[in-house]
Amino acid sequence: MPRILVTGAAGAVGSLVRPRLARPGRTLRLLDVMPLEPGEGEEAVQASVTDADAMRAACEGVDAVIHLGGISLEAPWERILHVNIHGTYTVFEAARRAGVPRVVFASSNHVVGYRTPAEYPLTADTPPLPDTYYGVSKATGEALGALYHHRYGLDVICVRIMTCFAEPPNPRALSTWLSPDDCARLLEACLAVEKPGYRIVHGVSANTRGGWVSLDEARALGYAPADDAEAHAETVHAAHGEPAPDDPVFAYLGGPFTFPDLDADRLQ
Ligand SMILES: NC(=O)c1ccc[n+]([C@@H]2O[C@H](COP(=O)([O-])OP(=O)(O)OC[C@H]3O[C@@H](n4cnc5c(N)ncnc54)[C@H](O)[C@@H]3O)[C@@H](O)[C@H]2O)c1
Repeated sequence: MPRILVTGAAGAVGSLVRPRLARPGRTLRLLDVMPLEPGEGEEAVQASVTDADAMRAACEGVDAVIHLGGISLEAPWERILHVNIHGTYTVFEAARRAGVPRVVFASSNHVVGYRTPAEYPLTADTPPLPDTYYGVSKATGEALGALYHHRYGLDVICVRIMTCFAEPPNPRALSTWLSPDDCARLLEACLAVEKPGYRIVHGVSANTRGGWVSLDEARALGYAPADDAEAHAETVHAAHGEPAPDDPVFAYLGGPFTFPDLDADRLQ
């Protein structure tokens, strides 16, 4: 894939995958509301995903969009609505109008955040049960992706990212970590697979304490995870302690996103 537009490229995931997606003959067009310094094989666009004209221009001559940009935590409804829902619509619409054949959408485990351990491993066709407005926005993004595939023929892969940081940030992440290298492997698989149509896959490494979500759908794309959060277990437990199995963080897939401190009334 010679030219790939990455929205939200200045964020945590964008910064981790940027060097890992670099290839000779490939250009990464990096878009964010924050300024970005382009390196070799990169172009930078400072714009909002909610700006239809800017998105249309950014999609010009692009072979695939990796849409990471937006609010990555819970926030008041108006912000989620504008940035995550309207912004994701704007990305799909710009891609369609510019003739971009493929969009990879950064969805989230919080689409199914209220699913319980009794239901594990969740599969890609587990119906949404969002834990936040944020989770609703990701479910809506997946639905927009389905619309743009079925109505307009775009290939759309929604990756329900579990926890993607340089290292597992907490005990829950020993089950949910997606290592930066595995994230790049998965995105590469999303770019390379022929005629994927519309898919939902889980973004997670091969964690010893995993099994919360199915890896079958991602493996079907050609993804072969190589990392395991267990290598970080000692460090994580030394920093955070070892939570009891009945800790509320394990009651639902969404973990702390299901806690009362994320209720909308407390976010205003
Ligand atoms: N990191 C994770 O564990 C994780 C888990 C599940 C889903 N995701 C999803 O993956 C994506 C990337 O996550 P992240 O951890 O890098 O988040 P992040 O918050 O670190 O990065 C998001 C980026 O989007 C940019 N952005 C915000 N509003 C924008 C707008 N209107 N237009 C353009 N850019 C805008 C921000 O400036 C930021 O650089 C997000 O969509 C997030 O919801 C991440």
